[in-house]
Amino acid sequence: MDAHDVTDLGLAADGRGRIEWADREMPVLRLIRDRFARERPLEGICVAACMHVTPETANLMRTLADGGARVLLCASNPLSTQDEVAASLVADYGIATFGRRGEADETYYTHIDRVLDRRPAIVMDDGGDLIKVLHADRRDGLTDVIAGTEDTTTGVMRLKAMEADGVLAFPIIAVNEAQTKHLFEDRYGTGQSTIDGIVRATNILLAGRCMVVAGYGLSGRGIADRARGMGAHVIVLEVDPMRALQAVMDGYRVMPVADAARRGDVFVTVTGDIHVLRREHFEVMRDGAIIANAGHFNVEVDVPALEELAVERRSPRPGLEQFRLADGRSIALLAEGRLVNLTAGEGHPAAVMDLSFANQALSTEYAVRHGASLERRVYVVPDAIDSEIARLKLATLGLEIDVLTDAQSRYLSTWDHGT
Ligand code: ADE
Repeated sequence: MDAHDVTDLGLAADGRGRIEWADREMPVLRLIRDRFARERPLEGICVAACMHVTPETANLMRTLADGGARVLLCASNPLSTQDEVAASLVADYGIATFGRRGEADETYYTHIDRVLDRRPAIVMDDGGDLIKVLHADRRDGLTDVIAGTEDTTTGVMRLKAMEADGVLAFPIIAVNEAQTKHLFEDRYGTGQSTIDGIVRATNILLAGRCMVVAGYGLSGRGIADRARGMGAHVIVLEVDPMRALQAVMDGYRVMPVADAARRGDVFVTVTGDIHVLRREHFEVMRDGAIIANAGHFNVEVDVPALEELAVERRSPRPGLEQFRLADGRSIALLAEGRLVNLTAGEGHPAAVMDLSFANQALSTEYAVRHGASLERRVYVVPDAIDSEIARLKLATLGLEIDVLTDAQSRYLSTWDHGT
């Protein structure tokens, strides 16, 4: 068995059950896996992935391994690892996995080091930590890397900043930029899984409650839509006028955080920026307010400021901490301010991760084939891959769509037809 660090290999049978269950909802990835097993496009390539250790990720790792890759996986968040899945990846699928749920930050970074020790040729990241460590502390490994892929909005922003500063050492395929990734995972995945995480952590009724959603990107929209569907009154916070206007026309109330802080029952941050909710807001929140974060990093809520204000802390439920303030009010923080959908829940449902991870698998194949001829830039996923995934997903759903007639195609490419 390869080197690994997981909580308990004895959990493997449970993990395998979850991985196989998720696989039933990932038919596009399964089709790719079958082809990879026949064609072995990744033969002999070492792939290091820093991803949430979930059943969906496990099915991606299996796909890469069936394509011939030597695969290593470390966790991309200390709290999102499903220990059963980590155990099964090692015991049943022979994938060197490094992740323990609740690991300290120091262990988290040790795990990143352990996968980089194996000198990967492809790095697959979710949030940019693996690629950042490689550029900052493990430059010894840079010469082996052909290319990388990045899964999230936050990670892509970091990598574009590296490209702009001229420090990016290899090409990146920004999986997040694929339409079949962000249009579906961010809106439908984050929408559902964030509500799921909040409800699992609190068991509150959303109907009639005031939910404040900070950030109206696709993820914020998804959360707002689902919350409204469950009967919540939704307030949206935005800094971008275009998005704020969309939120208004979608029927939401839009206002500054200082006003919303006094009104909300439940707050969710999904902006990608720091300290969206901070001391001045905690000071005016209602007694019993609940705060969750659905952005990638645990920076959107200023947790140290909340800790400083608290005169007492207790944890009445897993993943929920209540902070009592000096004036008697209490504020509940979910999942320590980390990604609520992956720490209090199980992340996005497999059916939507099918699209995201089909992009990861095909982008990895593309990077192996073309990485040497790419520049040190952040690339979007080629259109051909994106549309093929949409086509396959429709086919696996048993759906057919129309094709243009010749006359229709011709009409679209002419300019001389008028009224
Ligand atoms: N990110 C969000 N949901 C996820 C999931 N189910 N698996 C892996 N990464 C995720």
